[in-house]
Amino acid sequence: MPKERTLAMIKPDAVRRQLIGAIIQQIESAGFTIRAMKMVWLRPQEAQTFYSVHRNKPFFDSLIQYITSGPVVALVLERENAITELRNLMGATNPAEAQPGTIRHQYGLSIEQNAIHGSDSPENAQREIAFFFGEREIYTYEQP
Ligand code: RTP
Ligand code: MG
Repeated sequence: MPKERTLAMIKPDAVRRQLIGAIIQQIESAGFTIRAMKMVWLRPQEAQTFYSVHRNKPFFDSLIQYITSGPVVALVLERENAITELRNLMGATNPAEAQPGTIRHQYGLSIEQNAIHGSDSPENAQREIAFFFGEREIYTYEQP
């Protein structure tokens, strides 16, 4: 099976509560390989570009405020069916509706402060990976 890449982002609410390690542990345990990783404090204009698909939503201004409220951790993740598998591991947008065992069920605080982002399509994965990382920052390496 061919490998696929997706973009994950640990959101400011989770970074602030020192959940980076716990979330990455779950991601690695689920069979994802980390190909790139960095901590970034987005500027409002950068956040507006990243979330441009939501610019007409009623929650857009609040989302930009929240996502720029502290640093995030961006990761390029690789495995078979990575986009769908990460969304499954994350759980529903609203943590109250997320299945037990999912990251949002465990760590999400609200429909907005929901701990993690994952790309929702191959097109958006490609766009979001390029938003955070240059080719030289994404590493392919042998694994046992
Ligand atoms: P994400 O893009 O972060 O992976 O989340 P998602 O696909 O599950 O949800 P999406 O509809 O793309 O919404 C993006 C993010 O906006 C915030 N949100 N707030 N107040 C609200 O009703 C509301 N709805 C969404 C969340 O942070 C959501 O993850
Ligand atoms: Mg989304």
